[in-house]
Amino acid sequence: MINLNSSPVQLSLRQPDDWHLHLRDDHLLKVTVPHSARIFRRAVIMPNLSPPITSIEAARNYRQRILNQVPTQLSFTPLMTAYLTDSLPPEVLEQGYSDGVFFAAKLYPANATTNSSLGVSDISLIDSLLETMEKINMPLLVHGEVTDPGVDVFDREAVFIERYLQPMLKRFSNLRVVLEHITTKNAVEFVETSGFNLAATITPHHLHINRNAMFLGGFRSDFYCLPIAKREDHRLALRDAATSGKPCFFLGTDSAPHVRSQKENACGCAGIFNAPFALESYAEVFDEEGKIDRLEAFASEYGPLFYGLPPNTNTIKLRRNEHVIPRNYSFKDHDLKPESFVPFHAGETLKWFAEAE
Ligand code: DOR
Ligand code: ZN
Repeated sequence: MINLNSSPVQLSLRQPDDWHLHLRDDHLLKVTVPHSARIFRRAVIMPNLSPPITSIEAARNYRQRILNQVPTQLSFTPLMTAYLTDSLPPEVLEQGYSDGVFFAAKLYPANATTNSSLGVSDISLIDSLLETMEKINMPLLVHGEVTDPGVDVFDREAVFIERYLQPMLKRFSNLRVVLEHITTKNAVEFVETSGFNLAATITPHHLHINRNAMFLGGFRSDFYCLPIAKREDHRLALRDAATSGKPCFFLGTDSAPHVRSQKENACGCAGIFNAPFALESYAEVFDEEGKIDRLEAFASEYGPLFYGLPPNTNTIKLRRNEHVIPRNYSFKDHDLKPESFVPFHAGETLKWFAEAE
């Protein structure tokens, strides 16, 4: 319920971090990086480029390409991840982690989502990688969906938890794991009843939309993402989890831009570009739930707590100030043809506005 009366008009928040972000590469970085750096101090950068980030050198170079696009007046630290494959040597993880290049490693089940065809085809093949990660205390970030075509697309997260995640956590009981972008009450329950080594990120879009959004008056590819938005009862469970004040749930936007021509396509790409107003989008939810006082911990404290990093010390301002979200962000593609990204909440009015203090 919207609780306008008891909500303050301005808040000062410890600067947040984004614990799950897709920035893409090359000319797109110029468009994506400034949006995230405007509000977030650090971000965990997903490695699903084409080709994916599977070496220390590729991660170092990609990090530098990102840093080159950070506006001069801002500080933004990309935390790089390694893309796990069936054949990645454990030594690469060990070396990359001890060199401070890899912050974590990402497990994509092969063909689960964008650029995941080189992901892990069978989790039993990466025992030596998981053993190494457990030994060196390197976090494992999981895209938790099965790819079995016999499993309904709306059940893929719940089945992944039962079939793969639970047994994996039993076998590697000291491995630190983040179940990324959770979308179901099954995931919420599983994470909150697991031990200290398991946490989950929650996106703004899964807090706002349920699966109906994709079919409102026609097929709406802007709301197509993976894991796919689920039924309303799942969305409500996610809102309860995010605003619960439980440290096992924290912010990860999964902002995943695709150019317009690839969203509006016979085989449209999965992903929602929420980076431009991600914090504002979360603020809307926390405010509607009457829990705006818990936003800071979710956005700025529980992530660092899980990862064993100091929280940011500087602050940002969140003001109650209605503003309309742009319908798109235009730019030129590689061939100098006009392209655009459509942001989450395009054309909607949001009530909160975040800015540096
Ligand atoms: O919607 C999504 N988009 N989910 C993912 O898992 C990947 C992401 C992307 O990279 O496009
Ligand atoms: Zn993602």
